[in-house]
Amino acid sequence: MDARTAFKTGIGQLRDAGVSSFTLAAELLLLHVAAKDRTWLYAHPEDELLPEQEQRFFALVTRRIDGEPTQYLTGKQEFWSLEFEVTPAVLIPRPETEHVIEVALDRLAVREIRAGRKQTLSGEGLRIADIGTGSGCIAVALAKDLPGAQLVATDISPAALEVAKRNAQRHGFADRTSFIESNLLDKIPSLPRFHLIVSNPPYIGRNEAPTLAREVRDHEPATALFGGEEGYELYADLITKSAEHLEPGGILVLELGHNSLPAVQPLFDTPQWTDVGVTNDLAGIPRVIAAEKFVSEPG
Ligand SMILES: C[S@@+](CC[C@H](N)C(=O)[O-])C[C@H]1O[C@@H](n2cnc3c(N)ncnc32)[C@H](O)[C@@H]1O
Repeated sequence: MDARTAFKTGIGQLRDAGVSSFTLAAELLLLHVAAKDRTWLYAHPEDELLPEQEQRFFALVTRRIDGEPTQYLTGKQEFWSLEFEVTPAVLIPRPETEHVIEVALDRLAVREIRAGRKQTLSGEGLRIADIGTGSGCIAVALAKDLPGAQLVATDISPAALEVAKRNAQRHGFADRTSFIESNLLDKIPSLPRFHLIVSNPPYIGRNEAPTLAREVRDHEPATALFGGEEGYELYADLITKSAEHLEPGGILVLELGHNSLPAVQPLFDTPQWTDVGVTNDLAGIPRVIAAEKFVSEPG
């Protein structure tokens, strides 16, 4: 069968099964089995697939119809213009998580300006922690943009940490990143403290599980999705422990669930925190909360 026929047949099967983004899914799966890029599909649609490629492609189309996310079938997802390996042990990086990186970089830049330093932000001397690193997407993105920074990435899931390590290696940042299996920051020594702590914690409520797409509910890891019955349960601990692990003036940046803000914002209403800010995502949902640890410790 030629590539065009396989592509069209795959699209038809996915569409008839009610799969969302069916054309994109067919394209990604076909390019994956053929080990080619997009240009090939549109420039050489008459190319014959090998029989095993054709068989693999339609097997993947069937698995997609059965609910497996395309990214787990191809083993990859782009984030911050970098390609990440993903397996069912990790959450598939989401575009809205890029706001965490943007807010963190903005806050660091403001700190530099306040300190009267004008040089381009290289992250020289910065210590950064990513809590619940999953695929490692946040840690790796920050390592890319801050070539002078040292990073610590934690996760409660050893299988996720293996994926994160491979992603750090693949992009050449493994020598600047330590990976620690830990509940939140429990296994991280309290000194030296960090200049920046970032986290996209699990924030979906178990009570919301029935409303999730089956691709998410049945295939992404429950430890990555659910923060408790309501969803926001991990934030209190995360914020308290982050305060202990941040330098005075250090920055905390957290991703929020679509309805987490009312439960999370009051947790920053203590003398330990200042300059609390909330950033909406492109859908207008409060998606990131950031704050600075107060410079003189409360007595
Ligand atoms: C929402 S996912 C985020 C993954 C990745 N940082 C991202 O943004 O795509 C949350 C991650 O936190 C991890 N996790 C869940 N509970 C944790 C805990 N108590 N301590 C540390 N990590 C935890 C999960 O295993 C998962 O990898």
